[in-house]
Amino acid sequence: DAGCPASPVNTLDRVAKDPQIAEARGMFPEIDQPGIGQMKVTASAQKLTNTKSYPRKAAPLLGENNEAIFGRMLGFDSEKLARLKEQGVILREAAAMERNVKFIEVGPRDGFQSVKGDMIPTQLKLEVIRRMLDAGVGHMEFTSFVSPKAIPQLADSAEVTQALLAEYPGADLFALVPNLRGARRAYELGLRKVCYVVSLSASHNKANINRTHQQSLAAYREIRESCPELEIVLDLATAFGCPFEGKYREPGVAVDFLRDYIEVGVTTCCLCDTIGIADPAQVRGLLSALKAAYPALSLEVHFHDTRGLGVLNTCAALEAGVSGVQAALGGLGGCPFAPGASGNTASEDLIYLLDQLGVETGVDFAKMLATAKYQRERVPGSYSGHHININAPQCALG
Ligand code: COA
Ligand code: ZN
Repeated sequence: DAGCPASPVNTLDRVAKDPQIAEARGMFPEIDQPGIGQMKVTASAQKLTNTKSYPRKAAPLLGENNEAIFGRMLGFDSEKLARLKEQGVILREAAAMERNVKFIEVGPRDGFQSVKGDMIPTQLKLEVIRRMLDAGVGHMEFTSFVSPKAIPQLADSAEVTQALLAEYPGADLFALVPNLRGARRAYELGLRKVCYVVSLSASHNKANINRTHQQSLAAYREIRESCPELEIVLDLATAFGCPFEGKYREPGVAVDFLRDYIEVGVTTCCLCDTIGIADPAQVRGLLSALKAAYPALSLEVHFHDTRGLGVLNTCAALEAGVSGVQAALGGLGGCPFAPGASGNTASEDLIYLLDQLGVETGVDFAKMLATAKYQRERVPGSYSGHHININAPQCALG
């Protein structure tokens, strides 16, 4: 009735008794559970081939979700969680990390916004986005609702939103907003998720969205109250350093800053290295400080590749247990309000890394590489974050 695909619901009892379902369809596969060995588990069909659906996640390992359950739902503190981890009740992060990370494409927002000169045709944007979604990308920040004077390239955000929501109702699609007006517009068009941007650096916050920290916090509250059904990810820009204030070597700066936002309901924060100044040691330090201070907070990362460390920083973040990693196709980009910022970590580089680490993203590397090439041939811009040679056939082999 709701116009979405559905399958019949079977009770466990029925499944267990029906040899056709239980045996032939492999509902009780034997797996190699770390720390236990071979064991039988129940399985559900997670990936539907040839459909535009997005439950692309393997069934969890035993204990894999326990940190979220004990931490977020039952409110256990970091000490209790650490003890449970030692006892093996919570699966160790390294094993969990390889299965639970979202790959989040941000090129259509962070990449396209930086392209100078003529407007990229809306149909071309949509074609690039479609190719990525069809390559298996399940999470995408695809535009923003900001002043068209500040970001002329994304002035067609309403049109892009309407087209995508009609074609890909199941995908996790969201847009960046800087204020209540942007959030309301996104909501009215049918989006149920946005990322709200604030910079850790007060001077960058002023340059980017012309607001003080206090005004930004007040605007977040307004959005929360005005659109209670909207999921809001907090994008913390300049989380590692700023073009005007330098590098934040002390994790305490970000930890203290986030306290107010967590009190007013933020549950997911994306740490954005807007100018590509982070290094792996800083990444580990900041993530472990944030996890200790806010065990229930979900963390994502977004690294620009200004100094060639985008993939390394992402790798450090993966090992520290982030739940999502962002990148832009072709490494296109650069913040218009941060002098010297270069492109994001390139999606194809990151997909290659995730594939090699055994992280299941559901994204087809060869198709992403082909899409990067397609985009590069049609959209002029700075592809500074790109490493894999799109034209070399050996690079397309994965
Ligand atoms: N969407 C569309 N237009 C918006 C808007 C929104 N969410 N918010 C404000 N505007 C318009 C206003 O109507 C006004 O238009 P006008 O000049 O034609 O009257 C203009 O933008 C300025 O509005 P104002 O409320 O005075 O804001 P400001 O000048 O202080 O600018 C922002 C604040 C946030 C709107 C602006 O700085 C901005 O859009 N920044 C986005 C930066 C960005 O996207 N950076 C990259 C991503 S991190
Ligand atoms: Zn960025």
